[in-house]
Amino acid sequence: MKRILVIAIPALAIMLSMIPLHGKPQEQTGKASRSQLDSFMEMKLEHSKAILEGLATEDFEQIAKASQALTALSLESSWNAHTTEEYLDHSADFRRALNLVTRAAREENLDRAALGYVNMTVQCIECHRYLRVKHSGDTKP
Ligand code: HEC
Repeated sequence: MKRILVIAIPALAIMLSMIPLHGKPQEQTGKASRSQLDSFMEMKLEHSKAILEGLATEDFEQIAKASQALTALSLESSWNAHTTEEYLDHSADFRRALNLVTRAAREENLDRAALGYVNMTVQCIECHRYLRVKHSGDTKP
């Protein structure tokens, strides 16, 4: 089990960093300007890297802090750049995964925290995949 995680986590982190997000979004995003939104979204990446670092160094304090920061971000209005039911579902799944990470970090359970991180990463990927499909106007995922 540990072996799998040791391989899966860095692999996912690398995959995540390579995910090209869709090119030019057509939608306007209300109040926040495009660049504000981008830097807001990039903060997600910073926090998720901090979780990975915490996992690698077994620093539960750092894991909990970063996952809580991510949860807080996901509750801000800029997060809801899209308001479709599916987007909100993805957001909810993402927060659920983060809650697992936070709880596991508080319990100092490295394996569960690592699994939670993998799950959270899958949610990053799934929401971005949804957005790409949505922007491309395609109906198939
Ligand atoms: C619920 C949906 C959702 C989830 C989950 C999500 N994102 Fe995003 N992400 C977005 C949206 C929306 C944008 C802005 C682009 C857009 O409007 O299509 C974005 C943009 C980004 C960008 C900026 C990309 C660019 O083009 O500059 C990064 C980096 C990013 N996300 C990283 C992450 C990471 C890392 C995670 C997981 C920890 C994550 N996202 C989870 C919805 C999501």
